[in-house]
Order: sequence, then structure tokens, then C-alpha cells
Amino acid sequence: MKKLAILGSTGSIGTSTLSICESFPDRYQPIALAAGKNLDVAFAQCQRWRPKVISIATEELASELQARLKNAGITATEVVYGTAGTIRVATLTEADFVVSAIVGVAGLEATYAAIKAGKTIGLANKECLVAAGELIMAAAKEHNVAILPIDSEHNAVHQCMRGGARAEVKQVWLTASGGPFRNTPLADFEHVTPAQALKHPTWVMGQRITIDSATMMNKGFEVIEACRLFSLPPTQVRVSIHPQSTVHSMVEYIDGSILAQISVTDMRLPILYALAYPERVDATPATGLQFDLAALSQLDFSAPDLTRFPCLRLAYEAAAAGGEACIALNAADEIAVAAFLEGRIPFLGIPRTIEQVLQQTSGRRPSSIQDVLDADLRARACARNVIAHQFTDVLR
Ligand SMILES: NC(=O)c1ccc[n+]([C@@H]2O[C@H](COP(=O)([O-])OP(=O)(O)OC[C@H]3O[C@@H](n4cnc5c(N)ncnc54)[C@H](OP(=O)(O)O)[C@@H]3O)[C@@H](O)[C@H]2O)c1
Repeated sequence: MKKLAILGSTGSIGTSTLSICESFPDRYQPIALAAGKNLDVAFAQCQRWRPKVISIATEELASELQARLKNAGITATEVVYGTAGTIRVATLTEADFVVSAIVGVAGLEATYAAIKAGKTIGLANKECLVAAGELIMAAAKEHNVAILPIDSEHNAVHQCMRGGARAEVKQVWLTASGGPFRNTPLADFEHVTPAQALKHPTWVMGQRITIDSATMMNKGFEVIEACRLFSLPPTQVRVSIHPQSTVHSMVEYIDGSILAQISVTDMRLPILYALAYPERVDATPATGLQFDLAALSQLDFSAPDLTRFPCLRLAYEAAAAGGEACIALNAADEIAVAAFLEGRIPFLGIPRTIEQVLQQTSGRRPSSIQDVLDADLRARACARNVIAHQFTDVLR
């Protein structure tokens, strides 16, 4: 029985992980959960799973959760809160495996603490690797910890990498659905609304990652994530637009063979792969998920258009620069996406904000997680400043 700590248990990846625990009760048991602000779902998860510990975002929410649990007769669950609480969940002695699925850099300190505590990591939180990939991979090496990607593309690459030696890899191909604006002319991008951008053609995900998919920044983050996870330079990580989202990614070997991973478009499968690794478990009877090969009629691949999707270009530039550029890329994107969702900047304001923040970012390399968090705060302040000064006229 693997005992799991789930960071971000109330989110899309967190609830899919709990669904896997539901399907495989003899294999996986969630014993520690970390939520943000969703008190109702956190309470329901405590009722269902009776974790040893649950963390929630603030002290007030923790008091409320504690009271509700007491009323429901649940007294064995310890309620903690904030960053210290999330770290407590991530480092709980009894947990063998930590699913890192908090969105944004809010999950960074706990993920780093889990690595230092020697836990195997199932990593969904891509922002961790974008902002602090060099530090995280160095700590994983030092503590002999496996980082198993849950992000479907990296999970696919991880699977395809089992087909050859690392020195035989020519390049990896990350596939991208192209998002809802794959065929939208550049001139129409200025008028894209949050409601339009939140309609992803193939995946149902949290809000930030859905907007990042629409701008293709998500793919840019994935390029950086792949560089860190598989020790590749950005030139060996390529992107291909594949609207069917059937091939989750590919590895091209030096002999010309390309290995591709195909499966149902459902995050439960990469989560199950990471949890079970190095085994594979029979998923279909418990989940009902099965790929219908006979229904597969078409697989299209094309090159991304960096003019219409400047966020992808900015991510390649940040990947090549490394250090604080990647931190600023993520931080500025988070601020710009929130401003777009609140109607304060237009859709193309997202890349414009990020580009300006990158121009004002130093090339320093952080030497600690605190350095990363400090650089993150500076980039956020810079992004807020850019938004306050540049977009007042646009929205008038
Ligand atoms: N969804 C996908 O299909 C997918 C695929 C690949 C990678 N990812 C990556 O996985 C991560 C999670 O994505 P998601 O789609 O699951 O996001 P989501 O649905 O928005 O969930 C985010 C989770 O993080 C929690 N959270 C947010 N701020 C927090 C804080 N300060 N402290 C503690 N918890 C906090 C949220 O708690 P509350 O809801 O309780 O506030 C929620 O549990 C992201 O990094 C994303 O890029 C997601």
C-alpha cells in the first residue's frame, strides 16, 4: 500500500488523484491533504478519507474546518494551515509519495521540503520546475529522489524514454492541442474574452492552466519543464501542434525512430503511471478508460506560429537565458493572467506584460529557494507596475 500526501487535493489534479485512490483502494491511500481556500471540498475529503493531517490556506479557515470536523465527530485529523502546514503535509513521516499539484509557486517550498525529506514526487506543478528547476533537480539528485512527471506531455516523454538510452535521444517533441485559438487570425486576438479563452477544446483543467493553454504559455512552461526534467537544452525540446491531443508527446532517437505515447485524454492515466512506476497496473477494469484504436482516423502535426503565440517565443528565450528569466516568466504570467480574467487587460496584454517584465529582469541565478521567492516577488511587482501604467488607455 502506497501512502500518499496530496498537495492541492481540492484542485483538478488533486481530485483526479483521489479518484485513482477510489479505484485502487488496495494500492493507494491518501493520508495527508493540502488544500487552499475550498473549505467545503476540504471538509468532504476529510469525511471520505479521514487523513492524519489536512492543511488549509489560512488560520481562519483552519479554525472553521476544525469546528466542522468536531461537529461531524472527526477528531483524529490534525488541521494545520499556511505554508508551514503545507510543508507539514509534504514531509509527514508516514507518507511515501507526494503528489505536487498546488498551482503556481505557492507549491514550491513544500515540494522542495518533500524532496529533502526523501519522498518520491509525482510532479504536476510545472511552475515549480519553471521557477526553481535547477535547485529542485539538484536536490532530487542529492537526496536520491525520483521525480515522476504527471503533466501528460512529460509523462509521455518519460514513458518513451524507456525505449532507449539517454545518449541516443536526438530530441523530444511536446505535442500541443493549439488551444481554442489555433486557427484564429492575429487581428482577432485583441478582442478575445475570458469566457472564450476558458473554453479548452480537449482538456478540462484549472483556470490558470486553461488560459496558459490559450496563449500557449503553458507549452512554453512545458519546454522549460522538459529541459529541467530530462537535462536537455531548449534546442532539443521541440513543439508540434497536434489538435487531436491523441499523441501526448514523442521522443526522437538518433537512428531516426520516433516513439510516441498514445492514450485516452484523461489525467487519471498519467497520475496512475506515476503512482505505479516502475510497474504498470491494469487500468481499464477500475477506471473504464480504454483507447479505441479503431476510432482513430487522423493524426495531424504542424509547426507552431510564434507570431500569433508570442508567449511560446518568450518561453524559449527565457529557457535559453535561465535563472531569473524563468522565474520572471512564470510570475509575470500569473499576474497577467489574473488581470486578464478580471477584465483589466486584453488577451494580448498577457504577452506584452511578460515581455516588458523580462526586459527589466537580471540574468542572475538563484542559489536558494528564498532567492527564487524574492525574485518572484520582484517580478510580480514589476508586472503589476507594467499593467497599471500600460493598459489604462487600452481599456478605456
Ligand atoms: N489540470 C490538469 O489537467 C493539469 C495538467 C498538467 C499539469 N497541471 C498542473 O498541476 C497544477 C495544478 O493544476 P490544477 O489544474 O489541478 O489547478 P486547480 O484546479 O486550480 O487546483 C489548484 C490547487 O492548488 C490549491 N492551492 C492554490 N493556492 C494554494 C495555496 N496558497 N496553498 C495551498 N493550496 C493552494 C487549490 O486549493 P483550493 O481550490 O482549495 O483553493 C487547489 O487544490 C498546476 O501547476 C498545473 O499547471 C494540471
